[in-house]
Amino acid sequence: MRTVSVAVAGLGTVGRETVRLLRARRAQLRERLGAELVLTAVADRAAAREARALGLPASVARFTDPLEMARRAGADVTIELLGGTDAARRLALSVLGRGGALVTANKRLLALSWPALTRAAARSGARLAFEGAVAGGVPVLRALELSLVGDRVLGLDGILNGTTNYILTRCEEGLSAEAALKEAQELGFAEKDPRLDLSGQDAAQKLSVLAGLVTGGWLAPGSFPVVGIQAVTARDAAYARERLGSAVRLIASLRFSGTPSAPRVEASVFPTLVPLGHPLAAVRRQYNAVLVRAQSAGDLMFYGRGAGAGPTASAVLADAFCAARDLLGQLPSARPVPRALTLASADDTPSGFYLRLEVRDRPGALSRIAGALGRERVSIAAIHQDRARGAAAVPVVITTHPASLGAFNMARRRILALEDVAPRHCAMRTLA
Ligand SMILES: NC(=O)c1ccc[n+]([C@@H]2O[C@H](COP(=O)([O-])OP(=O)(O)OC[C@H]3O[C@@H](n4cnc5c(N)ncnc54)[C@H](OP(=O)(O)O)[C@@H]3O)[C@@H](O)[C@H]2O)c1
Repeated sequence: MRTVSVAVAGLGTVGRETVRLLRARRAQLRERLGAELVLTAVADRAAAREARALGLPASVARFTDPLEMARRAGADVTIELLGGTDAARRLALSVLGRGGALVTANKRLLALSWPALTRAAARSGARLAFEGAVAGGVPVLRALELSLVGDRVLGLDGILNGTTNYILTRCEEGLSAEAALKEAQELGFAEKDPRLDLSGQDAAQKLSVLAGLVTGGWLAPGSFPVVGIQAVTARDAAYARERLGSAVRLIASLRFSGTPSAPRVEASVFPTLVPLGHPLAAVRRQYNAVLVRAQSAGDLMFYGRGAGAGPTASAVLADAFCAARDLLGQLPSARPVPRALTLASADDTPSGFYLRLEVRDRPGALSRIAGALGRERVSIAAIHQDRARGAAAVPVVITTHPASLGAFNMARRRILALEDVAPRHCAMRTLA
């Protein structure tokens, strides 16, 4: 029986489960592959202790330095589950440089180092696989890469961050955003430092990976608008549901245009009002979903657990299997080659907006706000002001007809410069 050697770098949450599954599903994988996937090496700062805890046989080499493992073990398939970027990047470039297959679940590494990684893979003909990096165990990357290879992907809208989705759906159920975050941390969905999640940057990194997979080009993090959920309150969620018939979701969007050889993409991450009848409104708690729009296949929805040891290890193992199958069959990658990607302006697709302000109850305040919107040609769809009841400032909620993001932002700046309006506010998009 032919064998394919596998090395795993990083024996943390996902690495340990990947090794466990690789061994537990050995017979099943052998039958499907017609070859044996053999774990030959592991690397971790605590490699000896983790290997003992996992009951690995002495034939599996242990390394504390992942790079040394790459150099000395020279496995057919290397799985990078270190996290971070420095050691992970060095390992990835070393493996890809010598033509070895690399599997990773590291969205940050991919988002920041896409050009270097894809060029190294293209130069050596190595396979680079990363299903676990976006939406955990949901096989959306494989669908974009293979199932839709004869189609044209027009765009996608995704809920790509389980922590923020958990907070937003708990807010709908009446919890404050702070209490919902604490609960998510206690349940182990949210990091101790949740800034990457709350700011939308985690979703943005995943969006960059998705754009790269579809076009071959690099959507650099920081090059497109990203707004997190820090300003969204339980009150916004309740207002959206009760008065606007919508759920609040953090939506990461891509719209593709141009040609396969000169692709263009419009990208954004925004808290968004999603009509309650829309499939993304039904995605609750820590779940992830991606709604893909393809020219021939139409709309396709992918849904499931976006993180956790089991879902991520399942995706990683599938990547290792596919890499092994391609190596055995000497098949080239089906992915687009690395190429330049043009960023379309976020103004290209107008959308409606929601703006919640804190306004001092003074004569003429509302007309000054309406005037600021009018100056930027942003037309008001509805305006709602709570009764004052002696408070210093009252919430005012404005929804607009479709406008460009640039015009809305300009109007918002004018409004926040008014004496009547407090700086604290919440702006959201409506799903286009
Ligand atoms: N956890 C999830 O649910 C999930 C979901 C999707 C994707 N991912 C991705 O999967 C990757 C792994 O995540 P994880 O949650 O398994 O992380 P983790 O629990 O922190 O595991 C990483 C392991 O690698 C070790 N390590 C890191 N750098 C090293 C180095 N330079 N040399 C030797 N050992 C090193 C760490 O040791 P120390 O602890 O001593 O640093 C730790 O044991 C990340 O890229 C993450 O973004 C995770």
